[in-house]
Amino acid sequence: MGNIKKYVFSYNELENDSLLHTKDKLLLSKAKEVTAKAYAPYSDFFVGAAALLSNKKIVTATNQENASFPAGICAERVLLSTITSLYGEAAIDTLAISYINHKNNKSDHPISPCGICRQSLMEYQLRVKHPIRLILAGMKGKVIIIDDASFLLPLNFSGDDMA
Ligand code: THU
Repeated sequence: MGNIKKYVFSYNELENDSLLHTKDKLLLSKAKEVTAKAYAPYSDFFVGAAALLSNKKIVTATNQENASFPAGICAERVLLSTITSLYGEAAIDTLAISYINHKNNKSDHPISPCGICRQSLMEYQLRVKHPIRLILAGMKGKVIIIDDASFLLPLNFSGDDMA
């Protein structure tokens, strides 16, 4: 028999970015802008990420690919490594992610972090003991706001499991 458990989470979906608060709109605009600095000659999929830290700094990053494909790194993980290298255990209040697909120049819906990045976001927030709020959006179209990145990784594995 066992116990059937249910996992449910809520997120906010906006019709477009004009409905965002000023600070969030600015952060998303930084994520959009920085996509231009992605190094993505293999996928042509340019991703930009921007984080507002609790120390009020904004840090941006992009995906960095490699001819040896698995050596490529997503924008989210480049961002986390940059933040921790610059500021140590800095709490991230909000992290915005945007992109443009240069194969067809489309960017009309939100994308959400890949599985490996979800694991990295999880570890980052456990480490600094502060939830990361996510804003996900293309250059146009709907915007998704998720209050805590851990919502994207139910039943996650962490260092605590190895204690
Ligand atoms: N990518 C990111 O940087 N972040 C995501 O959330 C999804 C995928 C990158 C990895 C690769 O360089 C390209 O987009 C295509 O997968």
